[in-house]
Amino acid sequence: MAKAVIKKLLAKPEVLTLVREICQAVRLPVCICDCEGTMLFGDPYGDQFFSRTISINSEDNVIGTVKGGEDCTIVASTLQYMVNAEFERTALGRETLEKYREISMLCDLGAKIGSCMDKKEVIKIITGEIRTMLTADIIAVLLCDDNDAIIEIISDDGSDGDLLITSLEPGELVENFLVTAAPEIVNDLTADSRCTGSPQIFSSMMCAPLKIQEKTVGYVCVGSLDKREYPARDLKLLTTLSDQTAVALEKALLYNRLKETFFAMVRTLAETIEKRDPYTGNHTKRVVDYSLAIAEGLELPEEYFLRLELAAALHDIGKLGVRDDVLLKNGPLTNEEFVQMKRHPTYGEEILKHIKHLKDVIPGVKFHHERCDGKGYPLGLKGDAIDITARIIAVADSFDAMTTDRPYRKALSLDVAFNELIKFSGTQFDSAVVKAFLSAQVQEKLGMRAHGRSNTDA
Ligand SMILES: [Fe+2]
Repeated sequence: MAKAVIKKLLAKPEVLTLVREICQAVRLPVCICDCEGTMLFGDPYGDQFFSRTISINSEDNVIGTVKGGEDCTIVASTLQYMVNAEFERTALGRETLEKYREISMLCDLGAKIGSCMDKKEVIKIITGEIRTMLTADIIAVLLCDDNDAIIEIISDDGSDGDLLITSLEPGELVENFLVTAAPEIVNDLTADSRCTGSPQIFSSMMCAPLKIQEKTVGYVCVGSLDKREYPARDLKLLTTLSDQTAVALEKALLYNRLKETFFAMVRTLAETIEKRDPYTGNHTKRVVDYSLAIAEGLELPEEYFLRLELAAALHDIGKLGVRDDVLLKNGPLTNEEFVQMKRHPTYGEEILKHIKHLKDVIPGVKFHHERCDGKGYPLGLKGDAIDITARIIAVADSFDAMTTDRPYRKALSLDVAFNELIKFSGTQFDSAVVKAFLSAQVQEKLGMRAHGRSNTDA
């Protein structure tokens, strides 16, 4: 490319005209050749007059020559000036293009992580972008606790992040990063006295801090198995990406705190009703557990689980609106009292409709006493017209009510309760839901079911 610059310049009419005018001014033949001696301009028969040869250079390389008399220096100087300007223009163009790509990448990245509220997802996106921009064998994000101790390492391949640390520990390099909180390039880890880890897995690395409100919460590290000379430009890019990661992580952190506060509020609401009705101790928790087990058995899409869990936790929240003498009555209810009690799903809807984030939860609460045959309440809905979360809660709620002691009767045995569900499958209960529940109970007995699905346990 550099070799062709003189030829490219002389192809421009304005340059050719200028060179011709200078040649006429010095009134001596001048010859311009490329680095291989091919003549690009001049008089091939003027050799007899040529007393000087002047090189045209690009950095340390000769890319052409100007031959002529003593005055040919003016042609050579002009050409050299134009060559320098051409290279500067090209370099500037490249730099502008790189900047454009960088800004464009950062804008795309901002859009991608702007709506991402999951810490691991944010890190996955960022490390993926770093992989496309920088040469690295491993990219890892190290997260620290309040005492600057590394608590989590997430790498872009999801598995080998700790290799990076294994490579450095027990050296002082990582400690140094944590103390100085400054971006750094270490091109030769083996020669760095702070790095005493043995054996060295990585030869070169770069590190940039993740700072949230001046506090260093971690590092983004890039490691290379082969020795590399990372340029300052790469570290600057890594630092910019780290800054963006920190902003996204802060947002995800705030969102998670808000979510936790929200779940705490839901738990408090659920506990409120349990406190009013002491006979139902832990009923809510069991209904949540049964409901989630059924949903797993039915293989419901992921988005159903959270709203099912919240609906199951709050299914009887409407009982807050039922009079104490009805709710806590130690015996069978009269018709009027039963009418009162049957209003609790509607009261539940009235309580929850004021909370925007619980709108999706309302069907599960409002319809958990509907029956598949249309003989339930409050609306007498049938079959699939009843929201699936409500059909699930109906089975979970009824089973728990049957298998726990109540003021007016003793708990039924598990086998009797299972038979009741089977007996009313297809009439009171959704048969697929009953089947999933029975299957989940068998798996539970055999210790086959995975636990810990709850989102609100956070
Ligand atoms: Fe209920």
